[in-house]
Amino acid sequence: MSRKKYLIVMAAGSGTRMGATMPKQFIELEGEAILQMTIEVFLRACPDIHVITVLPESHMGYWRDYCLKRNFICPQILVKGGITRFHSVRNALSKVPDGALVAVHDGVRPLVSEAFIKEMFAKAESVPALIPVIPCVDTMKVLGTRKTADGEELYTMEGQTADRSVLFGAQTPQIFHSEVIKEAYAQAYDTAFTDDASVVLKNGKNLSYHIGERFNIKITTQDDLVLAKAILSLSLSPSCSS
Ligand code: C5P
Repeated sequence: MSRKKYLIVMAAGSGTRMGATMPKQFIELEGEAILQMTIEVFLRACPDIHVITVLPESHMGYWRDYCLKRNFICPQILVKGGITRFHSVRNALSKVPDGALVAVHDGVRPLVSEAFIKEMFAKAESVPALIPVIPCVDTMKVLGTRKTADGEELYTMEGQTADRSVLFGAQTPQIFHSEVIKEAYAQAYDTAFTDDASVVLKNGKNLSYHIGERFNIKITTQDDLVLAKAILSLSLSPSCSS
């Protein structure tokens, strides 16, 4: 029998890199909050999915009102975010039973396609941890910074140019058997935990990989917002054409 599906949608960040007063997950793209678009693509892919939305405590009321006003009636468990993404995920996992498949997805990645979500869930039934990755196309430099006498910050070479043929960018949704990710998140926090895969790996579990989607961008800066609008308006994203 297949496992029940859960989505933990991460939206408790403050979005300071966007430079806007409103956290980026609530900014509207084509008249709809980025967070709503993100949840909707999962609901289209898996109508029976259980949605857990992780929000800043300060914006829980705002999100409830927004959903009511927009008649966005998807049943959601709302969970308060933590000090880091790790702590936010850990809070949400307390709502997930064992024996489920749990997708952890950034609330600011609304352009993931329905077909990709279905593919990932199908593959995740047979592996404990499945991570979407994108091959690195740029030449990567390892740099540090130093301050000059007059306070200017300069970049300096810290190591060899990395071999890009072995470098991949990790995306979300990352999908786990719930007992595997819950056990991993019982560990103490480490600053090296920048995604869920790193937490599960540190707990000694194997990861499996699936090539991700180029347009599944994490909307982080104003430039990303421009890019996301362009992708949507040109209907280039697979999620737009389905
Ligand atoms: O900061 P970063 O870009 O890694 O954030 C990725 C996702 O994690 C965002 O969707 C953000 O809202 C979420 N996040 C969170 N709780 C935090 C920090 C980030 O849910 N404390």
